[in-house]
Amino acid sequence: MKSIKEMLLETLKNGPEVLTDITACRRNGKDIITEIGRVDKKIAEYHPKMLNLEVSEIIPNGNEAKTFRLTSENGYLPPFLAGQFINLFVETDGVRTSRPYSLSSSPLQRGYYEITVARTADGFVSAYLLDKAKPGDRFEANGPAGHFYINPVFHKKKSVFIAGGSGITPFVSMIRDILESGKNRDIILLYGCRKENTALFYEELKEKVLAHPNFRFELIVSEDESFKGRKGLIDAEIIRETVQTTDAADFYICGPQVMYDFCEKELAALNTDKKRIHREVFGASKSIQTEPGWPSDLTGNEVFKIKIDGKIIPAKSGESVLAALERAGIKAPVCCRSGGCGICRVRLVSGKVFTARGVLKRYADEMFGYIHSCKCFPISDLEILL
Ligand code: FES
Repeated sequence: MKSIKEMLLETLKNGPEVLTDITACRRNGKDIITEIGRVDKKIAEYHPKMLNLEVSEIIPNGNEAKTFRLTSENGYLPPFLAGQFINLFVETDGVRTSRPYSLSSSPLQRGYYEITVARTADGFVSAYLLDKAKPGDRFEANGPAGHFYINPVFHKKKSVFIAGGSGITPFVSMIRDILESGKNRDIILLYGCRKENTALFYEELKEKVLAHPNFRFELIVSEDESFKGRKGLIDAEIIRETVQTTDAADFYICGPQVMYDFCEKELAALNTDKKRIHREVFGASKSIQTEPGWPSDLTGNEVFKIKIDGKIIPAKSGESVLAALERAGIKAPVCCRSGGCGICRVRLVSGKVFTARGVLKRYADEMFGYIHSCKCFPISDLEILL
């Protein structure tokens, strides 16, 4: 039987050489292999900074969403863990922006990625993808990235997935991965939707319940009195009834912002250990004015000035610094747009920002004046450095 190391090496092109390089780097503390930068080049080959993707198929999903199958222009797609996302760039009306989308396809196949896009009330990018994108269109993306996945070493064998609306997408990838590979895990999916016909992947999930005794699924509908199944919200009672005891499981939540606050309270009411609750990052902050700590004298409509690279650009207090940069045509590095990855950091030279919830700041950020531009909002004139 092959060792894990041998199996991993087989999945890499020139695996043994890569391993030799890494060993040499560790020993010498820097990249001084015969060919300077050889390790960086190898890493860039496996994890390119930018992916060039092409829409190969668009599949309707529920009443209000579509699944986009994306292939790579050069045939290579980096591996990912079920639950991770890609950040897709879109240029529309002269503004280049991006949105993170969880991959819904299984990590077991690497021929394509799939993302599922649902319409949102003020969705600039989602509206573009749903109404204008067509097979053959090309998009750039970065990732896959993110920390929302099952860690089999530390997480319990039983996983309870709590999804709301399009928050089902990372769970579909996890469910496909677990069930298709025959992993020894138990899954319970509680899926909250407004109406039955807005549920995504509904038929596939029902079929999987019949085929796999280790998978249970319940749809909970909040706005449809005629629905025959369970109605309401995913509260403590539903969780207790379906899961029995919360001690023996890990809980994973993905959905709209209000759902996190609600479900976390319900889980707390069941004395669930906080360590056992995992949540996808917040996503871009909507209506920042309602967040605790927002200055009461600001409405979100004030326009401040940002000085950057000798230019002055306008920035609304209710819009992130990143959004202001994008609107002004300034290319800022970005990935999760949720405060989690730190790729969008910029240096705040002067001025004040309001930082939204969910930002994972490092000690060094505080010390050297770095802010996460995706989750920081101008509350005075600013000067920043990219
Ligand atoms: S883009 Fe990830 S923290 Fe801002």
